[in-house]
Amino acid sequence: MLAAGQGTRMKSATPKVLHEIAGIPMIGHVLATAHSLKPSKVAVVLRHEKEQIENYVLAHFPKTEVVTQDEIPGTGRAAEQALEALGDFDGDVLILSGDVPLLDVESISQLVQNHQELGSQGSLISVVLDNPNGYGRILRVKNSELQGIVEQKDASAAQLEITEVNAGVYVFDAKALRSALTKVGMDNAQGEKYLTDVVGLMLASGQKVHAQQILDPYLVAGVNDRAQLGEIATELNARIVRAWQLAGVTIQEPHSTWIDVTVQLGQDVTLLPSTRLHGLTRVGVGAAIGPDTTLRDVEVGENAKISRTQGDSARVLDGATVGPFAYLRPGTELGADGKIGAFVETKNAKIGRGAKVPHLSYVGDATIGEGANIGAGTIFANYDGVNKHRTEVGPHARTGSGNVFVAPVSIGAGAYTAAGSTIRRNVEPGALALNPSPQKNMAGWVLEQRPGSASAKAASEITE
Ligand code: UD1
Ligand code: CA
Repeated sequence: MLAAGQGTRMKSATPKVLHEIAGIPMIGHVLATAHSLKPSKVAVVLRHEKEQIENYVLAHFPKTEVVTQDEIPGTGRAAEQALEALGDFDGDVLILSGDVPLLDVESISQLVQNHQELGSQGSLISVVLDNPNGYGRILRVKNSELQGIVEQKDASAAQLEITEVNAGVYVFDAKALRSALTKVGMDNAQGEKYLTDVVGLMLASGQKVHAQQILDPYLVAGVNDRAQLGEIATELNARIVRAWQLAGVTIQEPHSTWIDVTVQLGQDVTLLPSTRLHGLTRVGVGAAIGPDTTLRDVEVGENAKISRTQGDSARVLDGATVGPFAYLRPGTELGADGKIGAFVETKNAKIGRGAKVPHLSYVGDATIGEGANIGAGTIFANYDGVNKHRTEVGPHARTGSGNVFVAPVSIGAGAYTAAGSTIRRNVEPGALALNPSPQKNMAGWVLEQRPGSASAKAASEITE
């Protein structure tokens, strides 16, 4: 796989092949495809931003050999050095580009199969594009017999009119490629050693090279700039959405629904508009997500419902409901049939089966027992300015509205707390905790202190 280019057109501090589509870097898509073909070896050629790319490659695909390209530029040099790394290997070599991420196993297998059946020394994939701009053009004699490839920057006006382009994907007999590459020069518009030149050279020396046209341009679309990145990401997403629809998922608005390739969805899941599912998110059978919900690495149980929510590294078990307007931070676990309601933020919070935090609360570093109910507007004060502490709420406890639980503190099983309480001391099971200071009403205060105000007027009309 060739991935040593600079990627200048991306104008980015991130190496081109590490830009993500559908949740994984472009090069990750290509490596996954390459490894799933089970070749005897996968080698990746790197140079620019080598360290960053290598870290990703070896972390995710440890059985990959990294080859470093020297200062001689061009895809031909990259291929040559990859070949060196294969030693005296003399079978068929598949060449892929790190910036052609959607190419599928099926198209590659077809290419390899035809290559072997035709007994070719070289085979490549071509495609006819409405707008061939930027790609190498396929040269044929009288529109038929393959003659070679000319790069855009080296093409004559007449050659630029050609709409059949080189996809940058090839199979070569290793020996034939090795010897052709020794004949490739650098006398061209970019001063590079072009891999594409071997096609003409091999044909001229009587070897058999065929170009296999494929019909779906997206499979071979190359990414050189952010516009192409956006286009490809959109198209891949459309295909992922469609595949899930065909697998039994209802997706109301495909264009506003984004699903990473790494996400898993059960049957009869419903995704409402503007839902984005990322990373290792898994959604159980019959669950409904959205609208306006973004989940990353969230596990959603069967028949759970999550609306207008942002969630990260959380678990929502079967039948539970979340939202609208909830924020699930890492370490949240909502038990089966539990509820996290409107305007609730949770973090490191284990909320038991059937327990409810229905309204306007912050639940941080807490364990809430089965069937407990947390009153509206409750804050779990977990931070003393230096350390974080936990709060435990026992099963079937009922806490009043507007409580502050000053951690570390525990509220026993079945205990109650009164509205407006600040709970600083543990509450025994079954107790009622209340600590409001006695309320004092100062009669006539408004008429005395705010004479002539609308309040005073309203008050005097009632008292008269
Ligand atoms: C290349 C092809 C072009 C084809 C297009 C398809 C050549 C000369 N041209 O053009 O015919 O239509 O792909 O997408 O091959 N790379 C290296 N080392 C280098 C230069 C590039 O490894 O010295 C890698 C790049 O990282 C990239 C791939 O090779 O993954 C293609 O290079 P790029 O510069 O993008 O070539 P294109 O101009 O797109
Ligand atoms: Ca390219």
